[in-house]
Amino acid sequence: MSKYNFDQLIDRAGSRSVKIDALEERFGRTDLTSMWIADMDFAVCPEIINALKERIEHPIYGYSCPSPQYWESIINWLGYRYNFKVDFEELTYIPGVVKGIALAVNYFTQRGDKIIIQPPVYHPFKMVTEGNGRIVLNNPLIKTEDSYEMDFEHLERIIKEHQPRMMILCNPHNPAGILWEVETLQRLASICRKNNILVISDEIHGDLTLYGKPHHPFATVSDDAQAIAITLGAPSKTFNIPGLVSSWVVIKNPELRIPFYQWLESNEFNASTFVATIATEVAYTHGAQWLTEATKYIEENIATVIEYCDKHLPMLKPMRPQASFLMWLDCRQLGLPQNELVDLFVNKARLALNDGTMFGDEGEGFMRLNVACPRSVLIKALEQLANAIDCQ
Ligand SMILES: Cc1ncc(COP(=O)(O)O)c(C=O)c1O
Repeated sequence: MSKYNFDQLIDRAGSRSVKIDALEERFGRTDLTSMWIADMDFAVCPEIINALKERIEHPIYGYSCPSPQYWESIINWLGYRYNFKVDFEELTYIPGVVKGIALAVNYFTQRGDKIIIQPPVYHPFKMVTEGNGRIVLNNPLIKTEDSYEMDFEHLERIIKEHQPRMMILCNPHNPAGILWEVETLQRLASICRKNNILVISDEIHGDLTLYGKPHHPFATVSDDAQAIAITLGAPSKTFNIPGLVSSWVVIKNPELRIPFYQWLESNEFNASTFVATIATEVAYTHGAQWLTEATKYIEENIATVIEYCDKHLPMLKPMRPQASFLMWLDCRQLGLPQNELVDLFVNKARLALNDGTMFGDEGEGFMRLNVACPRSVLIKALEQLANAIDCQ
């Protein structure tokens, strides 16, 4: 018997959610079912809401300091779920994972340095790199029948040729929802360490594992990985609280960590807000059942999409993600140029999805679908899509 209700329809209009309130700006119309940016349409677990309410009722919102239980909740979560053993001094707060990537890029690299990314991949990896005057070095993933693989031969070639300083790894991978195997991460770590390349491992989707397959924090896979890893994570995707801006960084290697954390401290980049730390502590301490139920619901939504496409939209090939609530839809069999594919989704099916090319040229012919919504909304969206394709 479920404790939480993920079928509930919640009207987000007017709540200043990017997902709804930025539709006009991003898609040019407001009459769309919104299935793009990566947050969930599910109510946050009541334990978090109640703790925030209680604190909000105190009438003074002054500067806050995180409680010892806040730090312990993160350490326990990582230790219990991933056997990722983290000491107190190896952990600090950062105001968002993308900002954490930006801080690490700025601190550890110079303008003109090269940074490897593996497209198709979460678009801010490129945006942060280029926006800070660094140079993107692409190591595109290789498309297999139903997933992607890392291209190690190409990686070694571009490292030799360009001497990059850093890599930004998406672990698990967005947009394809891949949980990288230990052996893959070990091989990556060994190549990067040999070549003095630091690895920022973005593990924001790591808690949302599906079908019992485990997530491996990059820093845990080998000594090489531990020596070069800057691990970024957050309860934000996991518990649907990204608007509270709560993330963390773990660096095991003291030679990297000590000066970087001092720099964060001197600039107050690691100063947290009480909404962030309270929600995080409660989420990691009391949110496990909510997460189990949410991921189960997401698995069923994924099955719904796959079955619907099999039956009614055989020219669409949705990838079954191993983690998180984003589905990478292979629409190449429709044979449409990308602008027409986007037009089909937006103006004909009235659906707001992420355009696959946002994640790199390798995303041509793909769209990214967010399935963290009530099933009734998902089924209606699939019907809208089927009707639009039928009318082509
Ligand atoms: C891989 C990845 N990293 C980071 C983020 C955003 O993190 P934050 O909101 O903490 O900057 C997202 C959001 O979709 C994501 O998919």
